Amino acid sequence: MMNFWDDLPRPFLALAPMEDVTDVVFRRVVARAGRPDVFFTEFTNTASFCSEQGEFSTRGRLTFEKEENPIVAQIWGNNPENFAEMARALAAKGFAGVDINMGCPDKKVVKSGGGSALIQTPELVTEIVAATHEGWNEGSNEATPTPAGKAGLAPNRQTVADEASRGGHGLAGGMSGLLGEKATPISIKTRLGYSKVEEWRSWLTCLLEQNLANLTVHLRTKKEMSKVPAHFELIPEIVRLRDQIAPRTKLTINGDIRDRAHAMELWREHPGIDGFMIGRGVFANPFCFTEHENPTRDELFDLLNYHLDLFDKYNVTTLGSEPGQSRQSITVTTRTNEETRDDGLDERTVAGGLASDPLPRKFEPLKRFFKIYVKDFPGAAELRIKLFECKDSDEVRKVLSSAR
Ligand SMILES: Cc1cc2nc3c(=O)[nH]c(=O)nc-3n(C[C@H](O)[C@H](O)[C@H](O)COP(=O)(O)O)c2cc1C
Repeated sequence: MMNFWDDLPRPFLALAPMEDVTDVVFRRVVARAGRPDVFFTEFTNTASFCSEQGEFSTRGRLTFEKEENPIVAQIWGNNPENFAEMARALAAKGFAGVDINMGCPDKKVVKSGGGSALIQTPELVTEIVAATHEGWNEGSNEATPTPAGKAGLAPNRQTVADEASRGGHGLAGGMSGLLGEKATPISIKTRLGYSKVEEWRSWLTCLLEQNLANLTVHLRTKKEMSKVPAHFELIPEIVRLRDQIAPRTKLTINGDIRDRAHAMELWREHPGIDGFMIGRGVFANPFCFTEHENPTRDELFDLLNYHLDLFDKYNVTTLGSEPGQSRQSITVTTRTNEETRDDGLDERTVAGGLASDPLPRKFEPLKRFFKIYVKDFPGAAELRIKLFECKDSDEVRKVLSSAR
């Protein structure tokens, strides 16, 4: 079975999953500046995906283009059956892999038993990983997978539920889908522990026993949030633990890594690391996956223009999106979280075709990105103020071009 993790360069670089940031628009901006070896989506809730509202409740988080591959869908939750169902659908949809979030410190996520709360429930972790492996294998074996990034298959909930009731997922910690010859691209992103750094050894041991394709370790505890420097001093011991327990599991290090040069420096020091994940470094320099450390003002303005173009392009629901099919666009910029499934299903039915995920993002939050592109030159602060007053992307384009 194919596992893209084995085909990556060493060390590989990944763009970190970042909620409300790394959607298809921003990932494509980063790709234009200089792409990482692996992309991750923002995290998507398994319970929401498996709810009545289904994929529409994910509001564009799962939209991707096939040229983004390898791209991993990051998911979170705490119910193994939902993980199985969602992994099955994601495999059929053309993602390269599934990553399980076991590190998010957000209060709501933790309260619902997902993200970093899983650090405290290792038995459930085993069930979740087994279910995800199983679901992925089912999905990737489906007869007619759709072209990557295009219309997704709706998960066949009945079948999954039936199999679950027959014990088909091996939820009780079974080894189904976990054996070496069937290495599935299931990975986990986590932190060192919940409240104490010393938890790292037992927690990472538990994860390394799950036969993962990759383990990403954000070098902080849940309690530390992002308030202390990443614990780089633990890297040698973590590499040693991985080598002992799961030499075939890739190890990705995350936390405070600025750019490619910084990653290479760390790799020379710790050649046992397989990959590096960069999150906020991309805000400081969107070219951070390249050796281009000081982009010019014009390069950054060009990138902002590209960001605006993509924002406009994806902020619609594209119907009949296969090449050669007629395209019909419906603006969904006013769609809210509360909007019902019926609207979406009507759109699909009327068009007689499948819709790609809608990406209903409002214009206001787009403004948070401006500081990535408009900075470090005389007058940057004043220009940002002008850009913040804009009401739509066309206004931004005009202000930007008059500032050139
Ligand atoms: C705005 C923002 C959103 C994030 N959303 C996610 C997420 O959806 N899933 C996840 O695993 N981590 C998320 N993170 C954590 C990052 O993936 C990463 O672990 C963290 O920022 C540390 O890496 P860095 O120092 O390179 O930024 C988020 C971080 C930021 C700043």
